[in-house]
Amino acid sequence: MARQCIGLDIGSSSIKLVQVKLSRKSYSLQNFGIEPLPPGAIVDGAIANHGAVADAIRNLSKRIHLRGKDVATAVSGNSVIIRRLQIPAMEGAALAEQMEWEVKQNVPFAREEVIVDWEVLVPRTPDGQMEVALVAAKREIVEQYVEAVKGAGLNPSVVDTDAFAMQNAVENSMGFTENETVAVINVGAHFSTIVIVSGGQPVFHRNLAAGGDTFTEAIRHRLAVGMDGAEAYKVGGGGGGGAAEVVPQEVHRVLAQVSEQVSSEFQRTIDFYLGDAIGASLGRVFLTGGSALVPQLPKAIQDRSRVPVTIFDPFASIVVDARRFDVEYLRVNAPVATVAFGLAMRRPGDK
Ligand SMILES: Nc1ncnc2c1ncn2[C@@H]1O[C@H](COP(=O)(O)OP(=O)(O)OP(=O)(O)O)[C@@H](O)[C@H]1O
Ligand SMILES: [Mg+2]
Repeated sequence: MARQCIGLDIGSSSIKLVQVKLSRKSYSLQNFGIEPLPPGAIVDGAIANHGAVADAIRNLSKRIHLRGKDVATAVSGNSVIIRRLQIPAMEGAALAEQMEWEVKQNVPFAREEVIVDWEVLVPRTPDGQMEVALVAAKREIVEQYVEAVKGAGLNPSVVDTDAFAMQNAVENSMGFTENETVAVINVGAHFSTIVIVSGGQPVFHRNLAAGGDTFTEAIRHRLAVGMDGAEAYKVGGGGGGGAAEVVPQEVHRVLAQVSEQVSSEFQRTIDFYLGDAIGASLGRVFLTGGSALVPQLPKAIQDRSRVPVTIFDPFASIVVDARRFDVEYLRVNAPVATVAFGLAMRRPGDK
């Protein structure tokens, strides 16, 4: 039986933890939990309040009786750059040198400020090229996440990116077919991540500044309520919170309008990729993240993209013991858990 990492997604509104066990080729859920973070704990992907994040991890671990120490976590947002490059086929020292040059061309940070990794996707195409995925992450941000995990008494074994975790989660649940191009869109609180996967490989990655906060901010503005009131209206209007309170019609209108605006930004990004990729056409969209629960959003994205949009449920494809887990809680929070789920697919010692 292979040992898995504990998947820990540190988001701006909450941390999410997923632990699975792999036995006889199928995963079963071992643990799951969400712990809110105070506002301002994470600012633009950076940990601004180290103590609050470490406390939240510690509280959550205790509450769900977490066992095990090895954690896979992820950095995200503008501190992460992922590029798929086509360069002349080469290897060894020549490739290493070429990649240093590519870092200078593609990464908008000083070389000493970033941790760089790359993976050869296609060693040699018929016309003598190769395809390489380049990943760069701001060193300072990676170190913050490592420290937060250590601060909670756990072992930071793997630091991934949200984009690869999203891809892994969908791949493990649904698989990708060879000729298919799909978009996985994670709509969080502060921002959104779009990953386009073609033939099972990540071909495109972008962050957008729009997220759940964009909806909350619009409600706050239009209905002249405070941030907490606006959040309650939003989640109540979403039907997910089961709020008994009556939600004004205006809230539904704002949610619909912002859904329109956000989905047009997504579409512009997808079109940007498709404009460059010869012969590619989008087959479907998987929607993840807490803001996938805004009821108007999936349809707004579907109307623009003209392809099926599915709210992704990572738990649907694994074994869940209904005696140990609140199945309704899992169902409601399934899209929220996606990044943590993808991280829980990692093993200690993975790159
Ligand atoms: N039922 C619901 N209806 C509408 N929005 C919801 C619902 N449940 C959660 N959300 C929103 O989802 C967002 C939280 O999602 P998620 O946990 O994916 O974000 P995060 O990881 O904390 O943030 P980020 O990734 O942007 O740093 C919040 O904006 C929250 O208001
Ligand atoms: Mg998130």
